[in-house]
Amino acid sequence: MKGDGVGDNEYSLFYSLKELESNKFVHFTGFITYLCEQFNDESMARSDLLIKLVQSGSSGDRHLFKKTVQAIIAEEKGKHHHQLASKLEDVIIDNQPKPYINGNGSVNGSKNLQVEKLLHKSNPKFALKDLYLEQEISTAVSEFVQEQFRSDFLRSHGLEPRHRILLTGVPGNGKTSLAEAIANELMIPFYRVRYDGIITSYLGETASRLSKLLEFVSQEHCVLFFDEFDAIGKERGDTHETGEIKRLVNSLLLQMDELPSYVVVIAATNHPELLDKAVWRRFQIKIELGKPSEKAIQQVVQDFEKRFPKKFGIAPVQFAKKLTGRSYSEIIDFLLDIQRKYVLSLPEGNLKAIAQSQLKSVK
Ligand SMILES: Nc1ncnc2c1ncn2[C@@H]1O[C@H](COP(=O)(O)OP(=O)(O)OP(=O)(O)O)[C@@H](O)[C@H]1O
Ligand SMILES: [Mg+2]
Repeated sequence: MKGDGVGDNEYSLFYSLKELESNKFVHFTGFITYLCEQFNDESMARSDLLIKLVQSGSSGDRHLFKKTVQAIIAEEKGKHHHQLASKLEDVIIDNQPKPYINGNGSVNGSKNLQVEKLLHKSNPKFALKDLYLEQEISTAVSEFVQEQFRSDFLRSHGLEPRHRILLTGVPGNGKTSLAEAIANELMIPFYRVRYDGIITSYLGETASRLSKLLEFVSQEHCVLFFDEFDAIGKERGDTHETGEIKRLVNSLLLQMDELPSYVVVIAATNHPELLDKAVWRRFQIKIELGKPSEKAIQQVVQDFEKRFPKKFGIAPVQFAKKLTGRSYSEIIDFLLDIQRKYVLSLPEGNLKAIAQSQLKSVK
């Protein structure tokens, strides 16, 4: 295409989806004809996906829409159309309907210039399927996602979806990744609170910045992520100021209670013991992300082997025995390190020998 390196077919599909999202196509039969014109015989294999796409667009079923676009993305990735896949991922997150914008403008609007200092917005690429989660956690997350997706239905029965999640657990086991994956799954923007932009030496100013931030996010269906949530209360040492900070945190909690249920608040902490009961109570879902079990480590090793042209040549259980007690992050880094060493030692490289030597060095 047209300047950005995407092929013609990719270009057509990309813009077709964009147009569907912006509801330019009112006549769906016309839309189908239009799409069919864009594709050659090979790409017609996705006609079932196109039909689902149109069904979801016409019925307003965002869940089906997302699943279908995800299937198209997976198909395009399989064909190594990575640019198109990545653009489609951006489109489904960027073009979320924003029914709640109340005229104050977007992040780029002049009124919200300051907001950029308080929040960091990103389009998360981490998907739920990329994460290792215990069955129980997986189920809890799926239920949560369903509640958010079907919030209108819940509201029609006088119920609100849950929208406050607390993630706990030692570093490197997926708190941040899960928060991102939830935003990705819901296809909504991910805002990470920037404490450096919020916390000033003037508590009054800090409080007003927090209010501004919460007012801003309440205009949009989004995830608001407080990483290292305990840090808010630990910023200052002396008792007078600690009291002030406590008040500030209390006021934040009260304001969090007021947030509409389409603002998904996710807080993460490695130190749940530092959070008092009032804070715990605020969160409707609490998830502890623990270190991987031996079985889970074996699964990670097997998945690495599937994605790499060569197997380690050592039974996954041997890795599991040596690496138990490590975080997912450490285990992933460990395996990547072996694969990197092997590639750099090619053509002579011996993957099994490298893996054995790396395992030996684990204390
Ligand atoms: N459960 C998991 N499944 C898959 N990958 C994981 C998992 N947990 C961690 N990782 C990998 O480790 C990296 C670090 O994880 P992440 O930042 O989510 O951990 P965290 O719990 O937020 O850690 P911290 O407490 O240091 O902020 C991720 O980028 C990901 O590659
Ligand atoms: Mg983190």
